[in-house]
Amino acid sequence: MPKPKSISISSHFEVFENIDSLSEADKKLMLSAFEARKNAYDPYSNFSVGASILLENGEVIKGNNQENAAYPSGLCAERVAIFYAGANFPNINILKIAVTASSSNQITNEPIPPCGACRQSISEYEIKQQQPIEVLFMGAEGKVVKSPSISNLLPLAFDKSML
Ligand code: THU
Repeated sequence: MPKPKSISISSHFEVFENIDSLSEADKKLMLSAFEARKNAYDPYSNFSVGASILLENGEVIKGNNQENAAYPSGLCAERVAIFYAGANFPNINILKIAVTASSSNQITNEPIPPCGACRQSISEYEIKQQQPIEVLFMGAEGKVVKSPSISNLLPLAFDKSML
């Protein structure tokens, strides 16, 4: 049997000690995500997520997770925010998204990355606008991870060119 070719994929991120180590613009966006997190509707998981998006026109869009008694009907914070952006500002580029998560069941001081479905949704808009979307994520406090593009978090993405 011939040996299959192998592919290696590497990615890179910046890791900041805390929110105060971020640039002013990034810190402001993350503080907005903290605000958004306060309005999470999460009676089933008690896991609150806030996401804030900065658009190229300076507009900031806030989202948080919205749960439902029929569990899969709920939606993550990142998608609540990015679908609002897509619905209301379809022609304005998205510069970055900041995400923070906290839980009433345990301490979440490690960075909490966006779930796979949210990565796929963010990727759709990054490809559409042909400009990277920066992604910043953290827990309730502590370190902040910054990705220069959603593609660093979603290698081998499925996209519309394959349809
Ligand atoms: N959640 C988000 O809002 N974003 C993610 O990327 C991961 C999970 C929400 C969905 C659900 O309301 C709760 O966190 C627990 O999964």
